Amino acid sequence: MSDLSHIDLNNVPEHVAIIMDGNGRWAKSHGEDRLFGHSKGVDAVRETLKTATELKVKYLTLYAFSTENWNRPQKEVEGLMNLLVLSLSNEIDEMNQNGVRLKAIGNLKGLPEECQESLEDAIEKTKTNKDITLVLALNYSSKWEITEMVKTISNDLVQKEITEKDITDELISQHLTTKEIPDPELLIRTSGERRVSNFLLWQIAYSEFVFLDIFWPDFGRKQFIGAVYDYQNRERRFGLVSEQINIIE
Ligand code: FPP
Repeated sequence: MSDLSHIDLNNVPEHVAIIMDGNGRWAKSHGEDRLFGHSKGVDAVRETLKTATELKVKYLTLYAFSTENWNRPQKEVEGLMNLLVLSLSNEIDEMNQNGVRLKAIGNLKGLPEECQESLEDAIEKTKTNKDITLVLALNYSSKWEITEMVKTISNDLVQKEITEKDITDELISQHLTTKEIPDPELLIRTSGERRVSNFLLWQIAYSEFVFLDIFWPDFGRKQFIGAVYDYQNRERRFGLVSEQINIIE
């Protein structure tokens, strides 16, 4: 499916989150090294962002580096960080031309200095753009984020800035790194794995999941449109029964 004729443009998810998985296996299957797979992954990121903008998705969150990824061989970690710095500086002009605002979530202070600087620079230079927000999850893990939230809220409680009654679903959301971002309606994972891998655990409570049996470098416009089509053909009940949904509609 590569045209938009089957897509209801009034029912496109506002926020799509993606676990980009399979760069290494893609590289292996093409007789290349893992870093080559990651650089092909950047091409897929570019096409995905373009398609998201075309579909008028407002937030696109990409799991680019997890806290667990530090355990990979040093050469690969360094290669990924260099690729990030290079991609950010290469893409700033294009992001500005296409109305892309960049954000980042995760323990950013744990990234190499050079990465932090290029991220800050790209975030600053794109901050007034309004068409779409690209959120890069870097040195991110949901358990880290939830732990930080618990520390902050319990400290506020001890300092008597809040009482137990103030601890609500909304308060918790406001203390996560995604506080200004709506929860994703759609979560996509490539590579055939059917796991969430410590990604946005709180935020995906009601997300629809689409798992694709292709490696990330093979993900593009056609696959993105296909995933949105799949999403639009599901009934999102949020704990209600089908009849109630149909009445609401
Ligand atoms: C998963 O493939 C991919 C990653 C851990 C990194 C994703 C990074 C990119 C696409 C490039 C950099 C991104 C940006 C936004 C500039 P894998 O290595 O886990 O693949 P495997 O499971 O087959 O080994």
